[in-house]
Amino acid sequence: ARGLVVAVDGPSGSGKSSTSRGVATRLGLAYLDTGAMYRAMTWWVLQQGVDVHDPAAVASRVDEPVISSGTDPAAPTIAVDGTDVGAEVRSEPVTRAVSPVSAVPEVRARLLRLQRQVIAEACAGPAGGIVVEGRDIGSTVAPDAAVKVYLTADAEARALRRAAEEGGSDVAVTQQILEARDRIDSGRAVSPLAMAEGAVHLDTTAHTLAEVVDQVVALVERAQ
Ligand code: C5P
Repeated sequence: ARGLVVAVDGPSGSGKSSTSRGVATRLGLAYLDTGAMYRAMTWWVLQQGVDVHDPAAVASRVDEPVISSGTDPAAPTIAVDGTDVGAEVRSEPVTRAVSPVSAVPEVRARLLRLQRQVIAEACAGPAGGIVVEGRDIGSTVAPDAAVKVYLTADAEARALRRAAEEGGSDVAVTQQILEARDRIDSGRAVSPLAMAEGAVHLDTTAHTLAEVVDQVVALVERAQ
């Protein structure tokens, strides 16, 4: 349907990216990874030598980088000032700094505007709709989304998946970084991670990716 928005939120490592890309591919929709946008902003802030734990310093620079997202679910991209930073934004320094940067209200306001532009373009374009993943999509970015999903998984399962994705990082260290991020993301004043009103909660711990994709596709079909 034209203007279809599917919001996928949840903590780190809950399976949001794989699920969202799978659903977008199945339904011919565009895909936006808002976490990659926060990571891109964080990468740029670190590059500039700005102290990520100084919210005023971060806030004063938020309008400078040009952040662009490619929305093909088969090959999503993220660029800063025209340079692809897809690999850089997954680095450990960025992963450690992203939650404090994302808690800065001015960062959120800037990226919220960009996210809504991408969503509007996808809804008006050939795909006709978009799957958007993040922490505050159902609550803040797209509160009118036709389908809202809140994915969770046990902390250990999330750490195992993330460590495997990172090509064999230490699971205990991965779990510690992941839990620290979730604490900041859930505790911040502006748009904290939380289950949105009207969201369907799916616990992915005991399910395969294919099963979770099927469940979300079924929710979308039911909502049409
Ligand atoms: O999804 P991913 O783990 O790449 O997100 C990285 C970080 O970006 C999160 O830990 C969170 O701090 C921030 N984020 C956010 N709001 C979103 C998406 C991501 O604050 N909608």
